[in-house]
Amino acid sequence: MSKIRKAVFPVAGLGSRFLPATKAQPKEMLPVVDKPLIQYAVEEAVAAGITDMVFITGRNKRAIEDHFDTAYELESELEAANKNALLELVRNVIPKSINCIYIRQSAPLGLGHAVLCARPVIGNDPFAVLLADDFMDTADGVKPVLAQMTDVFQREGHSVLAVQDVPRADTKQYGIVSATAYQPQLELVNAIVEKPQPDVAPSTLAVVGRYVLSNKIFDYLETLGKGAGGEIQLTDGIAALMQAEKVLAYRYDGQRYDCGSKLGYLKAMVAMGLKHPETGAGFTDYLKTLK
Ligand code: G1P
Repeated sequence: MSKIRKAVFPVAGLGSRFLPATKAQPKEMLPVVDKPLIQYAVEEAVAAGITDMVFITGRNKRAIEDHFDTAYELESELEAANKNALLELVRNVIPKSINCIYIRQSAPLGLGHAVLCARPVIGNDPFAVLLADDFMDTADGVKPVLAQMTDVFQREGHSVLAVQDVPRADTKQYGIVSATAYQPQLELVNAIVEKPQPDVAPSTLAVVGRYVLSNKIFDYLETLGKGAGGEIQLTDGIAALMQAEKVLAYRYDGQRYDCGSKLGYLKAMVAMGLKHPETGAGFTDYLKTLK
């Protein structure tokens, strides 16, 4: 089975749930402690052995390109001031061996359309998709979530979706799968539907923002019409793919924070603030003082 080397980051969304913070900056640049969400997602991809990062961007997203590029002025000022640790930090935002490729999605036609925009760069390979506002944390010693999934893909040779159980009231926020037991932590997907109302949802097993997909999905995305919310949905592409190939749902090891919502973002900030080498001890003490 060919190794996954390419990942797609759909980052063209408006971030309307975070206005006004996202009026002039991309939501993917919101920091969790000191690193933007998109950098965590790229680091997760790097840890899974991915070398080509394909960003599907839109207007107002230049900060993402700048973040992964050289910052001449900043670097020369840090150098002149002998601030070597900071200089290293700025220079090592992304390893030199990684390729960053940017494609503009000129109209907000949906997640399926965004992924389809990557087709010319992905070619005939299987690939990963990461939604940066699903922030994935793993315990020490546990592989990052995407690396767990590429291992499954390597072993099984089928598309893999990251899934978790959600409260029934929340099914309308997710792609929901119905699936049958396959292997430990793995289920075989029989149906997938985008954002069903709780009373009609086939289960409470929700897809979260990590996918490893067979290249064949592009053929289906090409021909799809508008789905839920009037958008071209990745979920509908997966539903079509599932008719031709096995698609697996993987119950990952890790903790997901929905950083597309204010509450999820705050939880991520607390979790990472407690772990961060600079803030962990002080933040722990501070939280103890709160009533
Ligand atoms: C997207 C997908 C949905 C998936 C979710 C995970 O929805 O369309 O199927 O469950 O990401 O976060 P969005 O959150 O972009 O509305």
